[in-house]
Amino acid sequence: MNKENRIHSAALRSKVMSANEAASLIQSGMNVGMSGFTGSGYPKAVPSALAKHIMDANLNGKRFKIGVWTGASTAPELDGALAMVDGIEMRLPYQSDPTCRKRINAGEMEYIDIHLSHVAQFVWFGFLGKLDVAVVEVAGILEDGRLIPSSSIGNNKTWLDQADKVILEVNSWQSAQLEGMHDIWYGTQLPPNRQPIPLVRSSDRIGEPYLRCDPDKVIAVVETHAPDRNSAFSPPDANSKLIAGHILEFLQYEVKKGRLPRELLPLQSGVGNIANAVMAGLNEGPFENLTAYTEVLQDGMLEMLKSGKLASASATAFSLSNEALAELNADLARYRERIILRPQEISNHPEVIRRLGVIAMNGMIEADIYGNVNSTHVMGSQIMNGIGGSGDFARNAYLSIFMTPSQAKGGTISCIVPMASHVDHTEHDVQVLVTEQGLADLRGLSPKQRAKTIIENCAHPNFRPALSDYYKRALQFSPGKQTPHLLDEVFDWHLRALRGERM
Ligand code: COA
Repeated sequence: MNKENRIHSAALRSKVMSANEAASLIQSGMNVGMSGFTGSGYPKAVPSALAKHIMDANLNGKRFKIGVWTGASTAPELDGALAMVDGIEMRLPYQSDPTCRKRINAGEMEYIDIHLSHVAQFVWFGFLGKLDVAVVEVAGILEDGRLIPSSSIGNNKTWLDQADKVILEVNSWQSAQLEGMHDIWYGTQLPPNRQPIPLVRSSDRIGEPYLRCDPDKVIAVVETHAPDRNSAFSPPDANSKLIAGHILEFLQYEVKKGRLPRELLPLQSGVGNIANAVMAGLNEGPFENLTAYTEVLQDGMLEMLKSGKLASASATAFSLSNEALAELNADLARYRERIILRPQEISNHPEVIRRLGVIAMNGMIEADIYGNVNSTHVMGSQIMNGIGGSGDFARNAYLSIFMTPSQAKGGTISCIVPMASHVDHTEHDVQVLVTEQGLADLRGLSPKQRAKTIIENCAHPNFRPALSDYYKRALQFSPGKQTPHLLDEVFDWHLRALRGERM
């Protein structure tokens, strides 16, 4: 293990201990605010040590469960390890861990899916109860005790401010050159004393590069040298390329129509392979001098920064493959000039997103013929991941785009359905739907006009006739003609899929 000294505060150096000792300071029943966002900047040692304590307690017949609050998804060493030993009573917000997902869907773990911009303020408002401990990864500690943030910021500022006690993990694997990349704004207030957030360009810096932390609250400092999750992205498949192509064509049309400037408006790109493919498409497209005001910086955006297509990017976290990380670290001093990591309450803030006029592009599970979008629940009841920041961006964006392949599970399931089995984004927040089949521009259309456009442009040909048939009969027999539906058959498609039949 190659540990360099990253702890320059004598007071905090005196609190260094093992992960095992630090974990023993966390008691059953506590709410623990952990760092971590989309597999970066999460604590690498204390959660796994805590999982061992929980397992020991369970073997001795004792119940040991904690509340786990994070920025967003973490990694197997945190969510996976704690879920494996059934140590999580309540999890919030976004997660994507398979073991967590299994426990949540089995009814063994409570899960609150909150808009990511809401989490910090809900804690400040006292809506979620008391935060007992913060466990936060940092890249280093300055002599005066200020903290150099890690590869994500997420809710760390709030955890450090609000928790009674703090455990710091100082990870020397994170590049020391991260110092200076972050922008932590300490101007948030509680209503009625709130002030406008002074951010008018996506690349503005409005705060300071360090996190503040009361050293008296720090009960342990743990040194680590461990990598982030850094999962690889699949190369864009045929469907993702088609989706990216439709979006590019649409954006070019909008520029031609004078509804978007030539360098577009700040881009927000969601999680996953399709979002990454759209960035790859933009990287080869005609637009120059682009900007990003987003939540997660994935490989595709880093490529665009490298090529120069993207002038700057603001996010709250990285989510990179190993190759992209190597590229970033090799030239971090230069990238640092053009990348800003902010707290998620700012990266996802409705006020800022609305002001900047963000172009939001997010994935979805299904949409219905009227444009209501389900981002989170398979067949209406099984959580996939969570709403993440998609709602923060969709409602407040200049343009809100949702994308998905038109079919799932080998063509047995249509991602365009008569009625969404769960709604995260209502028809009012969805302006454009895209599948590999095409793009439906829903702006200025009534529900009936939307239905025709979505079925014609986005549905797979295998499902289009059945959707058209449903819509025509709904038009004829629905008691209301504003948003026609046949309530007695509206979920037949899902019921068939649940029985293992084709939708
Ligand atoms: N019915 C059933 N299952 C479906 C489905 C549908 N209509 N649509 C997708 N799925 C399944 C896929 O088969 C796949 O399952 P698998 O993992 O067993 O193969 C899984 O859902 C993921 O789908 P995929 O096509 O790989 O999409 P993705 O990686 O682009 O993820 C979301 C799509 C919706 C799950 C993802 O975008 C998400 O979690 N979104 C919500 C949060 C968000 O938008 N965050 C960004 C804000 S900044």
